[in-house]
Amino acid sequence: MRDVTRDPAAVEPPVLSRQLRDILSLEDLEPAAQRYLPHCIFSFISGGVETNASRHENRAAFADYDFHPRVLIDVSSRTTATTLFGERYSAPFGIAPMGGSGLAGYRADLALASAAATENVPFILSGASLVRMEEVAKANPRAWFQAYLPVERGAIGALIDRVASAGFQHLVVTADVPVGGNRENLVRAGYTSPLRPTLKLALDAGTHPRWLFGTALRTLRRHGMPYYENSAAERGMAVFSNAATRAHLRDSLSWTDLEWIRDRWQGKLIVKGILAAADADKARRIGCDGVIVSNHGGRQLDGAAAPLRVLPRIADVAHEMTVMMDSGIRRGSDVIKALALGAAFVFAGRPFLYAAAIGCEPGVRRAIDLLRSEVHRNFAFLGSRDVSELEGRVMRIAR
Ligand code: FNR
Repeated sequence: MRDVTRDPAAVEPPVLSRQLRDILSLEDLEPAAQRYLPHCIFSFISGGVETNASRHENRAAFADYDFHPRVLIDVSSRTTATTLFGERYSAPFGIAPMGGSGLAGYRADLALASAAATENVPFILSGASLVRMEEVAKANPRAWFQAYLPVERGAIGALIDRVASAGFQHLVVTADVPVGGNRENLVRAGYTSPLRPTLKLALDAGTHPRWLFGTALRTLRRHGMPYYENSAAERGMAVFSNAATRAHLRDSLSWTDLEWIRDRWQGKLIVKGILAAADADKARRIGCDGVIVSNHGGRQLDGAAAPLRVLPRIADVAHEMTVMMDSGIRRGSDVIKALALGAAFVFAGRPFLYAAAIGCEPGVRRAIDLLRSEVHRNFAFLGSRDVSELEGRVMRIAR
């Protein structure tokens, strides 16, 4: 039965702990992670910015559409397997890049990468990750790399050369971060980057002993102090220190920098954080292979459009360029709506990190399997044998 959704990677399911067996949907992961994580780290993952308007709309947008199933179609051979950039994956979704993942779960960058490799879905390693990219590439040779570009050309070039030498073939440039988001919730929760040793942090950690022993102390004992390993060609700063807050200023970067990268980077080049059709068109003209329509999970500009709402306009101007989407995907039905509205593929962020926190690699595999099973089941209801048979199945609700 599992093989149907697993094309081409038919693998044994992971052995699940009782806690993971009780996780029945991606939505179940958040309360479980909230119990496991210190308040400041849970706030860092779950939060948006300012009023959380975009984070809210990312979910609300899916309710603007409903399904129009077709019946009595033989769907017994249906498959969730999907081709993206010439590679066959077991599902039309992957894992979005998430910086600081190792703060939430033990060596979470590796847990996410390995689970994605085993379950045959794409994984994007964040430029703000804590395990060296070379080690992640060994665990998952098909992982993609996401860069937060340094502002200076020499440093951009050195980073790209390192990414290429490590063996990555897909480079994702995140474009919606000219400055850091206004994360008031983090100030309230006592989260800083790097984390500062304060009494508040000590109390927060001490009242979450499973995280303290299972993630923080285990990491320190086995691997020493974690660093931002991949933000540049050389190691960045430690995650835990009294140093000044990490600078996020990238406000001088422009399309000229992206053109320069296009000339230098031989692999697939993808721009993440696109919400305007005009920008998608620019990306196409300079030769980008794909865009990820995204508002960063509602973590940058509060009030930025929900990606689902702008997706059809962007798909219209994309032509040969691949359009992907993230922000707010939690259910198989969300995946299908995004595909029907023009995405070739989607990504989800927070739920997979919650899964890595509470359940390491088996937890992430469980999350992938749940989401893929929902897509597979809904294909049957919709009378769709694969991702190419969704036409007319999703329509905007006339109000
Ligand atoms: C992110 N996101 C992100 N994006 C990026 O390009 N580079 C990064 O390092 C990070 N870091 C990061 C950390 C955390 C904790 C979260 C939750 C998110 C954004 C991420 O790639 C993606 O766009 C959103 O998470 C998608 O929204 P959902 O699925 O979380 O709703």
